[in-house]
Amino acid sequence: MRGVTEAYDAVDLIIAKREKRELTTAEIDWLVDAFTRGYVADEQMSAWAMAVLLNGMTRSEIRDLTLAMIASGERMSFDGLGKTTVDKHSTGGVGDKITLPLAPLVASFGLAVPQLSGRGLGHTGGTLDKLESIPGWRADIAPDAMRAQLRDVGAVICAAGAGLAPADKRLYALRDTTGTVEAIPLIASSIMSKKIAEGTSALVLDVKFGEGAFMKDLELARELARTMVALGTDAGVATSALLTDMTVPLGLTIGNALEVRESVEVLAGGGPADVIELTVELARAMLAHGGLPDADPAEALADGRAMDVWRRMIAAQGGDPDAPLPTAKESETVTAPSSGILSSQHALPFGIAAWRLGAGRARQQDPVSAGAGIELHAKPGDRVTKGQPLFTLHSDEEARIPRALASLEGAWAIGEVAPAARPLIADRIS
Ligand code: URA
Repeated sequence: MRGVTEAYDAVDLIIAKREKRELTTAEIDWLVDAFTRGYVADEQMSAWAMAVLLNGMTRSEIRDLTLAMIASGERMSFDGLGKTTVDKHSTGGVGDKITLPLAPLVASFGLAVPQLSGRGLGHTGGTLDKLESIPGWRADIAPDAMRAQLRDVGAVICAAGAGLAPADKRLYALRDTTGTVEAIPLIASSIMSKKIAEGTSALVLDVKFGEGAFMKDLELARELARTMVALGTDAGVATSALLTDMTVPLGLTIGNALEVRESVEVLAGGGPADVIELTVELARAMLAHGGLPDADPAEALADGRAMDVWRRMIAAQGGDPDAPLPTAKESETVTAPSSGILSSQHALPFGIAAWRLGAGRARQQDPVSAGAGIELHAKPGDRVTKGQPLFTLHSDEEARIPRALASLEGAWAIGEVAPAARPLIADRIS
């Protein structure tokens, strides 16, 4: 029943979506506002989300939903900064530490990178959890300090305030418990409402596909990327996307301090080839949005310019870039049972194993272990000899190691033939 002062009835809007009718802007604005006010009940919003998952939304409905979620909270602005702002968002993957080298790399060309990040939940790690393994580093920074750091250093990686798109926060929590996470219109509007509210003028999306990613299938990832690029463009944010393969873990480390160490290697001009490739390609896309299509990010990694910004970025948030990183108390190395070629290394079980070792959390309020995780000593296609180390598990608690090993059963194989080479970047959308 509709209240006397309410414009619509939630039940009518649920039925409309169930019957595949396109909702109007006014209906969507009311639904999101009434849900944020607590007038529309959680079970009604959940039923509506399920109708969206089953029946989809039109482009204008998705745009209206995104704008309504932005309007539910505050909107940041970097006007007057004197620099172009460019941000990056990844849909999340195993060993995905790219934000760490990327933000200072892009800032080293004079652009401003306001990277509002989150903590990890489940098998994909959170950028803030990784950086918090650096002694002294703080994720929470006041808006004025953030502006000052963007002006002086050029890059900030910090926690997103609770005021950005609060309607999305509530809706996402419901989707998590009602089997409605996987709806492309809801994922796209959720991610883009936060990114647009952040006030960046350009955005590059790293949309991952494959078994270690949210979207298992390339075609679905492409649809998600197209939807998000359209949303950003419609909202006046120059947006493009890379579709990247998440079949095997990215780089050679999974886990907080281990991933910081690898990121620093990349900033020092070294590091694994896949991490370098993705960092450089995302940087190129961000620099193109910032009016620097011919800038060479690989050069800024090689000559130390990006490392210089990294050190200043860490120090500005209280961190000591020279402090030794924490290490876990216990470790166990798995060796090759036979000689041959490493033919597979499945991202998802490796992500789950790192999580079980203590690198990730099961509930939002759980702590994470800075030193826990996995170091990979070989990648698919590498020739290995019997007894050679394949990977090392690290944990603060010995009892976690057998559970992690159990999740790695069948997660890798040694064979006679090299797996078919897969390009890391499958497509680009702009
Ligand atoms: N990340 C988000 O922020 N929202 C989603 O819906 C999925 C991933």
